[in-house]
Amino acid sequence: MNDSTQEIIKTFTAIVGTSGVLVEALDCARYCRDWARHELGTPLAVVRPKNTEEVAQIVGFCHERQLRMVPQGGHTGLVKGAMPDSRYPEVVISLERMTRIRNIDPLNFSMAVDSGCILEEVKRVAEEHDCFFPLSLGAQGSCQIGGNIATNAGGVNVLRYGMMRELVLGLEVVLPNGEIWDCMQALHKDNRGYNLQQLFLGSEGTLGIVTGAVLKLSPRSEQTQTALLAVSSIEAAVQLYAQARRALSDLMSAFELIPRQCLELAFEAAPQLSDPLDSAYPYYVLMELGASGLVDLPGMLETLLEAGMEDGTVLDGVLAANAAQAAQLWLLRESMVEGQLLRGEHLRTDVAVPISAIAACVEQASAAVTAYSPESLVIAYGHIGDGNLHINVLPPNQTPAEALPGLFAQLESAIFSVVDSFEGSISAEHGIGRSKQAAYLARLSKTERRLLAGIKAVFDPDELMGAGRILPLIEDSSTSS
Ligand code: FAD
Ligand code: LAC
Ligand code: ZN
Repeated sequence: MNDSTQEIIKTFTAIVGTSGVLVEALDCARYCRDWARHELGTPLAVVRPKNTEEVAQIVGFCHERQLRMVPQGGHTGLVKGAMPDSRYPEVVISLERMTRIRNIDPLNFSMAVDSGCILEEVKRVAEEHDCFFPLSLGAQGSCQIGGNIATNAGGVNVLRYGMMRELVLGLEVVLPNGEIWDCMQALHKDNRGYNLQQLFLGSEGTLGIVTGAVLKLSPRSEQTQTALLAVSSIEAAVQLYAQARRALSDLMSAFELIPRQCLELAFEAAPQLSDPLDSAYPYYVLMELGASGLVDLPGMLETLLEAGMEDGTVLDGVLAANAAQAAQLWLLRESMVEGQLLRGEHLRTDVAVPISAIAACVEQASAAVTAYSPESLVIAYGHIGDGNLHINVLPPNQTPAEALPGLFAQLESAIFSVVDSFEGSISAEHGIGRSKQAAYLARLSKTERRLLAGIKAVFDPDELMGAGRILPLIEDSSTSS
């Protein structure tokens, strides 16, 4: 370590204490690797502040010294945004020690938290107060509220409650120059001028560090119905979705498509799980409804299913009899993601098209993948009610590791071309980060690019915060425009 690095570490230590600064490779290792086991570079240091003032002092010092920084939550992001860069040393600012629930106001249906709070803990505390924080996703045991805000996370309840963008009332952010922007308001309605707050939703750590948030809560449903239904095709699943939406309106909170291969992957990851139905079917839908008061939820579901069975949309199904059975069904949904990881490196996408185009999109994307790589396995699953599917590809077993990046680039490009033909989105859920940057930039108009670069320049003219994520560094821009 040279003199200047030593002096930087000394200053960090003076601000956050010895236990708040990590520099040894072994200590930093877990901050350099994400959930998907990707690694890029090593940081100058990992700094772990305990409160907003410490974050502001650290960022202010980095700004003064023109040191690049990357905010880090639970490292579950899927586009390589939170890991330190390989070309230059970045200071990782981890929010993991900022875990305070600041207050909860059940009358206002709001809750103020530090950004390092783990999502699952936030959900638990909300329930304790007879409220519900609806963001639900497989990574909820490790991801942080700050990460959810920075990625504008989606998950399985978007069709009823919206993405993170719709679940935040107030924010506190440390800007790249160290200033604290305090907008921790708990207002359900506010229409004053440009909405600065929303710029941070989905900003992926490139505009500032989210240190606190006021979250919008919902009432807790007194009754829930969870069902796994077998259908013959994606067309049938979409048909059932439209029927359910008409019949159940806002009471439906989740409607997830699960192909048979995904159930098999779930069994590989969680061998204790068994097939909830007696026979195997090509596709399944996992749906959940919730309501309170005098609503006859079981009756409504029964009517829907009877109609579905009669017209052949629903082939078979199982209704969870209690919360434990419902949890088992959801475990299937979570484990299939783990199952893909166990199969090794694979291509992940999170595309969106109009709901009515989902079946055609999957069919064409699968054909495009198979034409290029007949041995690859395409699995298309996910948030069908949002028109958002993960069209993922597991490569052939014996593919040499060095051939994978090239194969994935070709397959991704083939899938994205199909998505383009439906005027869809190449990233509906996980964001851009580094992984999707080239495809994102290739689809931006000059006007969009100018406006986006202008926003970045206003917040972070020196490119110190999350540099090179979403947009490339200005010095690299000529090669990517
Ligand atoms: P990290 O991975 O640490 O960071 C993600 C990005 O946010 C990085 O760019 C980082 O710099 C930035 N960041 C982190 N914290 C802050 C902060 N405080 N201030 C500013 N920037 C910050 N996503 C969905 O949308 N829907 C899903 O259903 C879903 N399911 C998932 C299931 C699994 C098993 C996994 C592993 C991931 C899943 N994800 C899903 C990905 C999702 O983006 C993350 O789970 C989560 O939102 C990221 O939070 P994190 O705390 O782990 O952030
Ligand atoms: C899912 C994550 C990966 O829906 O977005 O499983
Ligand atoms: Zn998803």
